[in-house]
Amino acid sequence: MITMEDVIREGHPTLRLTAEEVETPLSEEVIQLAEDLLQFLKNSQDPEIAEQHALRAGVGIAAPQVNVSKRLLAVHVPSTDEESDEPEYSAILINPKIVSHSVQQTCLPDGEGCLSVDREAPGIVPRHKRITVEYIDLNGKKHKERLRGYPAIVVQHEIDHLNGVMFYDRIDPENPLALPDGIDVLGS
Ligand code: NI
Repeated sequence: MITMEDVIREGHPTLRLTAEEVETPLSEEVIQLAEDLLQFLKNSQDPEIAEQHALRAGVGIAAPQVNVSKRLLAVHVPSTDEESDEPEYSAILINPKIVSHSVQQTCLPDGEGCLSVDREAPGIVPRHKRITVEYIDLNGKKHKERLRGYPAIVVQHEIDHLNGVMFYDRIDPENPLALPDGIDVLGS
């Protein structure tokens, strides 16, 4: 299983690379890695497993964060409905590409965090409010999905990792907490 020891941290050069497209048909190695990344997220959100293995809770992880410079990522966003066992959004995205997006921007009220960043990096991280993303799944099947709100933000954060971009690169260094014109704040 993947643990925090496998997660590389800021300063590691792999986090600044443009990751390579995953070749199809998918190799056993790629499939295993993708499954392990998704399992890591599920484990990290399970209080017992997370405590036992000292996992920091995460909702998304990209292959470069475990030092594999390939274009694949996993997202597991739990439901906000506590009654529900179904996650709000859970997927493995291989070779994901944002093919269109809203002009409207959004952001999280408390900024973003990252499993590869062991410090607070406060500031507004502008994201597209809605995106259409194309990707292939573990079976090699093509998908085209519209995402909005929190899942859209998480997917944009993870796709940034495939392009060597860290969330804090998007924070205005002059005025980190200022809301850009016209942006909305998720949940408000
Ligand atoms: Ni991250």
